[in-house]
Amino acid sequence: QKKKVLITCTIPTVASDYIHQRLPSSRYEIEQWPHEDTMSEEELSKKIVDVEGLYCILVNKVKGKVLDNANKLKIVSTMSVGFDHIDVKECTRRGIVVGNTPGVLTETTADLVLALTLATCRRINESAEAVKSGEWGAWKPEWMCGKDLHSSTVGIIGMGNIGRSVARRLHAFNCKILYTGKNEKRDLPSEWKAEYVDMNTLLSTSDFVLPQCPSNDETRGMFSIDAFKKMKPSSVFINTTRGDLVDQEALYEALDKKMILAAGIDVTTPEPLPVDHKLLTLKNLTVLPHVGSATMETRGRMALLAAENLVNGLEGGELRHRVNT
Ligand code: GLV
Ligand code: GLV
Repeated sequence: QKKKVLITCTIPTVASDYIHQRLPSSRYEIEQWPHEDTMSEEELSKKIVDVEGLYCILVNKVKGKVLDNANKLKIVSTMSVGFDHIDVKECTRRGIVVGNTPGVLTETTADLVLALTLATCRRINESAEAVKSGEWGAWKPEWMCGKDLHSSTVGIIGMGNIGRSVARRLHAFNCKILYTGKNEKRDLPSEWKAEYVDMNTLLSTSDFVLPQCPSNDETRGMFSIDAFKKMKPSSVFINTTRGDLVDQEALYEALDKKMILAAGIDVTTPEPLPVDHKLLTLKNLTVLPHVGSATMETRGRMALLAAENLVNGLEGGELRHRVNT
């Protein structure tokens, strides 16, 4: 009997070619979801029956009913660094190995964090829109003025791989770097002079607040109205992690009432954000469609790494990156 493999979406050819080479059709039956959009939860919970290897992306919820129907599942390989869409605890309990793709997207994502931060504080979207709408008049001293990133104080929540790459860039912008997290990091380059502070200090003293931590029970809903109230009226909030770190009602209120200056978010709840969502009416908010790791090179590397994790999980090898032990 052939082992079943399910790939939930269209993936870069380097990855599908690799999977087909390594998992020969004599031993494996590989099904790839052929449509433009990935499978719904309903479709996945039907298709998962008898599947041993699952290659998924961050919009596939691998929990609840999907896991209940996963009678033969051995490996879940997600093409993402985040794994909050997977019930890892339940997978571990059932002996299912979970793999993800850290490392390969770090620098690309840090570039996007800087891009969104600069776009937000320098009002890039609004400025570009003003050109198209005809709002652009004669040069005026105070028109479209934003806020400097260079030489500002930036607070990073979670000094992991991506947090560090962001900090390295900010150091080059002459920023003062504050950070918080579970532990003080003793191996950060000393020239950054990064200061480990508590969350309240970070919120109340930073010009820019940048969560760089994963979504989990400790971080979900972290940006409540209380958090925004602690921030300075001149501060800028940037979220490129997961939408559920933020209470979006609170974010709306904070921006609408000018409790903070501006925000830029690459992640929302839900995704996609409906086009008539009230957040999109705010001038001081820049919203991007979850594109942190979106370069051709990096998506190719992520896809291939997830393919290697899948193959190794099925063929009894070590995963390159394993979430559970
Ligand atoms: C993107 O959000 C990822 O987790 O890879
Ligand atoms: C701006 O373009 C300047 O010349 O100051």
